[in-house]
Amino acid sequence: MAAFARKGTILTALLLVFLMATPALSAKKYLFKTCEQAPFCRRNRAYADLAESNGAAWDPPYAIDPSTVTFDSGVLQGTIVKAVTDPTGAPSTVEFPFQLAFLESGSARFVVDEKQRVQSPIPGFPEGLTQRRYNEASKWAVTGDLTPDISAVESTTDDERKNDIFHVRYGRDRHFEAIVQSKPLQITFYRDGETHVILNDRGLFNIDQYRPKPADPTSLGDALDVKDMWEENFGGKEDKKPKGPESIALDVTFPDYEHVFGIPEHADRFSLRETRGGDGNHDEPYRLFNVDIFEYEVNSPMAMYGAIPFMQAHKKGSSVAIFWANAAETWIDITKKKPNPEAFGVRKSTQTHWISESGVMDLYVMLGPDPSSVYQQYGLLTGFTALPPIYALGYHQCRWNYNSEEDVLEVDANFDLYDIPYDAIWLDIEYTDGKKYFTWLKSMFPTPEKMMQALDKRKRKLVTIIDPHIKKEAGYKVYEGLSKSELAVKTDSGEEFNGWCWPGESAWIDTLNPKAIEYWKDQFKLGKFCGHESNLLIWNDMNEPSIFNGPEVSAPRDTVHYGNWEHRDVHNVYGLTFVNATVQALQARHPRHRPFVLTRSFFAGSQRLGAVWTGDNAATWDYLKIVTPMLLSHSIAGFSFVGADVGGFFGNPTSELLTRWYQAGAFYPFFRGHAHIESKRREPWLPGEPYTSLIRTAIRMRYQLLPSVYTAFHRASFDGVPIVRPMFLLAPDNEDALGIDDQFFFGETGLLVKPIVEEGATSTEIYLPDEEIYYDYLDQTIYQGIGYKHIDAPLEKIPILARGGHIFVRRDRYRRSATLMSHDPLTLVVHLDKNGNAAGVLYLDDGETTAHSRGVYLHRFFMFNAQDNILRSRSMQASSAFNKSFEKSIDDVRIEKIVVVGLDLGKLKNHAVEAFQDRKSWSTDIHITDVAAGKASVVTVRDPKVLVTGDWSIQF
Ligand code: GLC
Repeated sequence: MAAFARKGTILTALLLVFLMATPALSAKKYLFKTCEQAPFCRRNRAYADLAESNGAAWDPPYAIDPSTVTFDSGVLQGTIVKAVTDPTGAPSTVEFPFQLAFLESGSARFVVDEKQRVQSPIPGFPEGLTQRRYNEASKWAVTGDLTPDISAVESTTDDERKNDIFHVRYGRDRHFEAIVQSKPLQITFYRDGETHVILNDRGLFNIDQYRPKPADPTSLGDALDVKDMWEENFGGKEDKKPKGPESIALDVTFPDYEHVFGIPEHADRFSLRETRGGDGNHDEPYRLFNVDIFEYEVNSPMAMYGAIPFMQAHKKGSSVAIFWANAAETWIDITKKKPNPEAFGVRKSTQTHWISESGVMDLYVMLGPDPSSVYQQYGLLTGFTALPPIYALGYHQCRWNYNSEEDVLEVDANFDLYDIPYDAIWLDIEYTDGKKYFTWLKSMFPTPEKMMQALDKRKRKLVTIIDPHIKKEAGYKVYEGLSKSELAVKTDSGEEFNGWCWPGESAWIDTLNPKAIEYWKDQFKLGKFCGHESNLLIWNDMNEPSIFNGPEVSAPRDTVHYGNWEHRDVHNVYGLTFVNATVQALQARHPRHRPFVLTRSFFAGSQRLGAVWTGDNAATWDYLKIVTPMLLSHSIAGFSFVGADVGGFFGNPTSELLTRWYQAGAFYPFFRGHAHIESKRREPWLPGEPYTSLIRTAIRMRYQLLPSVYTAFHRASFDGVPIVRPMFLLAPDNEDALGIDDQFFFGETGLLVKPIVEEGATSTEIYLPDEEIYYDYLDQTIYQGIGYKHIDAPLEKIPILARGGHIFVRRDRYRRSATLMSHDPLTLVVHLDKNGNAAGVLYLDDGETTAHSRGVYLHRFFMFNAQDNILRSRSMQASSAFNKSFEKSIDDVRIEKIVVVGLDLGKLKNHAVEAFQDRKSWSTDIHITDVAAGKASVVTVRDPKVLVTGDWSIQF
């Protein structure tokens, strides 16, 4: 939201003056709450302190009433009872029905609601608002099958029953177990007899039941801290909290797990820190509350643009995870302790405390046992990454702003002049007439369709920004229609809510409303926006939502959405609903095409809709450095299609920083250069030599790898394994590698990438997490043995090691855009493992339509076998008319080169290889590089005359 800086309204100008008057670093912090300033967080943290100080004597007021518990068809249910005192001081109770469902997909789901709010009407409840606790976070986040597994069995023993304990076995072979204890309330999850997750281990389960505001709030017996419970004021903005306090909280312990990961978005380390103070720790909990946090701080638990309440715990031999499906403001405290070494092994245990402002408690527990199983289980709930069109994986050129059609076409032409491929050029908010989306600033963009047609000549796309704020202006049709049909977010008194954003006074489309989605689709209709052009992609920004004059730069929590839900309940999911509407609009516009939408705000499940980037970073080395751990966090939390502004949004990078950023960015799943309106132009040719050539090399390297990037996305789209992979995905047993977050494995390639993030660096240390053989990708130097290896990394070099055992596919010819490469020949790159074997996969389809969902694609498996020195290509799909039709369309695509690294030359029969395809065989010459000391052999087969379609073998 950096643009406080330009063309501001009076209000934004005033705000700017205000911002500038505060010291630089704290300038942003004071706009956002600390836990202490969020009353429900403060209260629950104090509750945790009280529990801790009571130790074994802690006697929380919650217990299951064992007489209510039943088990049927995969669901254990009953009632949790809270002991309270009523306003007269007499003892009373509040009931919370719970369900623990064991799902067919392998996860367990624990839902707790408040009985009083499910029965209607309740006295004192504000009219006009939905009385229930918000229970639709799962509706937006979870698209998977929630059917309970009827083969789950209750196996409570007599002894357990006597102690009011309930026992269920579930999952494949029933190797998962849940033991539910009534008092103290506790649910323990086991896998193969070992404890992995404990709910309410520390007795911090806590729910604010509905209470009308008492005349004297201090009379409440069960409230520890009644200040601000009914209304509060932050930064001069009042929150009336008509429904009173309604927070929910629970502690979750991962016994014997020292490392937990996830809960993006934070600009922090990958392995999450403790949050209760101490050396290197945070003092504040991690916060999930989608906000426009411009020029965010690095190494901070502060809230950012998106929220995925998913946390994974990993240790040698095991990975487990939880998903807290709540869309309200959420804080997570993390501490690590060695509570009971006898019971739980040798490591510290991680204790987490989840605190949300409102909603039902809705928690999913996934018991792994390994990282890929966890991602599969989470994907079966929230959906998998949508397979992007292949051009979306190319390079994107953006800045705030390309000012005119001539400007756009000149940049476009310069890419060709400098022989740099790219796929999409982006238009930021200045293309519009007065920030009115779906309009054009005609003086600068008189013929947008012609401009798009010019881009299409090289199969390039135009991305326009469309934000959720709709300028309130008479005569602006999009606003008038929205207002007239009452599809905007409303105030607590039912009026249209108005606030300030780029255009000045605006309304916000309420995309929770199905009618608003229809209205949105209408705006994108063919002929209405960008004519009939099909190379239109969309960028959704400011969808936290960002509201310049709102509390914490967002919507007042007591504004009201469709279904009469308060904004406080749906805050973190609003951004997802907006992108959902845009995706539907693009699908309606071109039903056969896969849409592309970039979003800034996100929630669990947003991975189904498109790409995300990490928002407004700055052109300094610190911001380059923090990208890698951020990409890792997004990736393991289901969001594979992630990137960061290459070059840094604010400020001006030095040519060295810009070059290093392109070298890193070539390995970001979403690869886009972007800059603030006040930053100097920095298109790749501007820094001059040697930088331009180095940037060209980096971008071209990305294009070479596109078939493999696409293959990795295909995998993510059906089993959730991300593109940017942490060390523990390939070396799950190496606990020393769990804290390493400055390097990553790239997709299926086995390439271990370590971006250079220090000024003036000429070398680096890459950590090998396992005993596999690694080869320098560029010069084949061999490295082996767990630990750090010193690698030269002058400016010309991206430090990349290729892990032995992987085969991947490249397209080595330079073309101007990804789509133009679709019939280019392929290069197979084989890095043999320490035993001389390797394997890999290639996925190909038409790259842009939805035909792949009907099976119109090619999926092949390559294997190099050390025993017989044969490289084989085999199909991974059952033969069908659909894949045959695709194969036919690419029957001109040949393998033009095979590169085998690390072959034992003594095993080579002669200086030729024998190829076999379609019952024919022929021999082809090979080229062998001299094997220098410390380097691996490279055997190259040029033009082996095998096709990408059909099975074949090559005998070395
Ligand atoms: C926000 C976005 C940024 C964009 C700007 C203007 O700050 O994060 O990428 O350039 O708005 O639209």
